[in-house]
Amino acid sequence: MTHRVQDKVVIVTGAAQGIGFGIAEMLAREGARVVIADKQTEKGEAAAARIRDAGGEALFQYADVTVEADCAALAQAAAEHFGRLDGLVNNVGWFPRATLEETTTELWEAIMNVNVRSAFYCCKYVIPIMQRGGGGSIVNIGSIHGLQASSNLIAYGAAKGALLNLTRTLAGAYGADRIRCNYLIPGWVMSEGEIALAKSRGVDVNELRAQGAQLLFGRHQTPQDAAYAVVYLISDESSQVTGSIFHIDAGMSTLLFRGRSD
Ligand SMILES: NC(=O)c1ccc[n+]([C@@H]2O[C@H](COP(=O)([O-])OP(=O)(O)OC[C@H]3O[C@@H](n4cnc5c(N)ncnc54)[C@H](O)[C@@H]3O)[C@@H](O)[C@H]2O)c1
Repeated sequence: MTHRVQDKVVIVTGAAQGIGFGIAEMLAREGARVVIADKQTEKGEAAAARIRDAGGEALFQYADVTVEADCAALAQAAAEHFGRLDGLVNNVGWFPRATLEETTTELWEAIMNVNVRSAFYCCKYVIPIMQRGGGGSIVNIGSIHGLQASSNLIAYGAAKGALLNLTRTLAGAYGADRIRCNYLIPGWVMSEGEIALAKSRGVDVNELRAQGAQLLFGRHQTPQDAAYAVVYLISDESSQVTGSIFHIDAGMSTLLFRGRSD
């Protein structure tokens, strides 16, 4: 432990499992006091308890981050419990595969709500607290699909693209208040969400796991791979960094599989 984010208070949304939990766990290990926000109460409580059992400080707060009142309550609860608020990681996401033909209005709205409306609401209520506290750092967990065309992720790609421009806009608008906002692109993580979605499509999960060997570094990523970069972005080491895209994607943006560039 190097205390790189010592005593900083950081909300991580969607941290009951997957990449979000990995981020919350590492932030806590580096000294941050973390607020785990999720709509899964049992899992969220267990995640916070795991961090506390390891010697970290963590609070679980129920929030459906597609609901404005929940996001307002989340920001307030974090600031009240810990007395300040330094960081927000908008990690919540949902990525069901669907082509244009398969995307109903309801699915479009659900995907946009989880992936981008959530960040809008969280930023809306967290930023005024950060302004009063003298600054802060927001990390939006994006996707390669926010930059590149993906015909079977129509709504997800649009949502993550919108999240990127929200990132840049907030970076410009609140830089003078010492509030930074960056966009982080993880690689392919076999998270609980990824596995559940694969199963729902009838995809053989073992086959997906085996595909890790074909990736540039010969494995899928772990949540920790993204978490290392989040620690940097929340820490004061990145005080001159804002409006940026961080590719923590094992080269996926440029080279999908080993030895191939197509
Ligand atoms: N898994 C990957 O390969 C991958 C790759 C690139 C980017 N991402 C992005 O990383 C982020 C995390 O993905 P993951 O794979 O860990 O997902 P996951 O499905 O395993 O975890 C998502 C978490 O968010 C919570 N959540 C979902 N909707 C919510 C809501 N409305 N309110 C509160 N909580 C909610 C879930 O309960 C869950 O705990 C997402 O933004 C995703 O788009 C994932």
